[in-house]
Amino acid sequence: MDNPFVITGRYVSAEYFCDREKETAELVSNIENWRNTVLISLRRMGKSGLISHVYAQERIKKNYETFFIDIYDTTSLEDFVLLFSKEISSRLQPKGMKFFEKFVSIVNSLKVSLGTDMATGFPTADISLGEIVNPVKTLEQLFAFLEASEKPCIVAIDEFQQIADYRDGKKNIVTLRTLVQSCRKTGFIFAGSNRRMMSRLFNNPSEPFFMSCTPIHLEPIAKARYSEFVRKHFEADAKMISEECVEYVYDTFEGHTWFMQYVFNRMFELTDKDSPATVASADEAVSHIIDLFAPSFQELFVRRSERQRALLIAVAKSRKVESPTSAVFISKYRLQSASAVQGAMKPLLDDETISFLDGCYFISNRFFSLWLARRY
Ligand SMILES: Nc1ncnc2c1ncn2[C@@H]1O[C@H](COP(=O)(O)OP(=O)(O)O)[C@@H](O)[C@H]1O
Ligand SMILES: [Mg+2]
Repeated sequence: MDNPFVITGRYVSAEYFCDREKETAELVSNIENWRNTVLISLRRMGKSGLISHVYAQERIKKNYETFFIDIYDTTSLEDFVLLFSKEISSRLQPKGMKFFEKFVSIVNSLKVSLGTDMATGFPTADISLGEIVNPVKTLEQLFAFLEASEKPCIVAIDEFQQIADYRDGKKNIVTLRTLVQSCRKTGFIFAGSNRRMMSRLFNNPSEPFFMSCTPIHLEPIAKARYSEFVRKHFEADAKMISEECVEYVYDTFEGHTWFMQYVFNRMFELTDKDSPATVASADEAVSHIIDLFAPSFQELFVRRSERQRALLIAVAKSRKVESPTSAVFISKYRLQSASAVQGAMKPLLDDETISFLDGCYFISNRFFSLWLARRY
């Protein structure tokens, strides 16, 4: 049997996807009622998975053309347009040459070399960055192409906060906003992990996307639902796991999806059919994982300034902290001063090494946090 605890980020099927019934229904309803969505959560909580899960629903598959681009690695509007063009053209492949010809005629600002894949017989389109001379114009044409589609289209843009870091960030955002607004039959999902950035883009009255989307905040999966999911998959392979053990892992990682999945992936592999998984075996799995990552954590850590390192250790040791500039916290961890903490915190928050949620600061990567707390 395959390991049912998927950790690659690739969505496999509903069977390996836990819960999210409410969020799935909400997102489907947003799509069907032409509300654009902004989907926000910590990284690795399950945004991308949720979008794939929604796209896999029968009624969405049947009635819409769905597109997904993750713009995390893009640094300019040209990059963005390239990725978007490639996503659209790759989705057209199985539909045949007729669609490609339509694409080439509407998106005529792009020089596309059409060909045929020898192995599959599918048409291919070769698009390279150098051909994107006028990204705004190409973007307009891509939107026009989607609008001309027979079935309505849904476009998910993952890691959307990245767009604010492009050269001319603000101008690009305005352009995109105008295009999005002019769509009659194309829906959008903007997903992002950087809470501060996303709330700036979407909740700040001076930002073009202000209040333009219906928000969905992805919280941890409920403990009972996740526990049921884990036990079901162990039992399906005649393996035993105590509820106490599942809850222990859930609490250790505060329900943060990927980290729990990672631990259960390992535990599923290591558990014998005749000896049930226990809290002790969970601890063993966690230690093993932390050891595996130790060299990269070490490298991440030494690249930080001395003040940032001290703050990282202090936050990791307290797991969660409400007021890192308080006198109690500063003296407990022998940090220099409130202003030193503030100065060290800013870059750590900016690059999401530390997250701030529900009034608390904590280290975003839960394995890194455990490693720090144990090592220092
Ligand atoms: N509902 C779920 N059930 C099971 N695994 C999930 C679920 N949601 C996310 N995951 C797993 O957690 C990891 C992180 O999810 P992902 O969607 O990539 O997070 P995000 O996009 O928020 O950073 C992935 O490995 C994914 O397989
Ligand atoms: Mg993601």
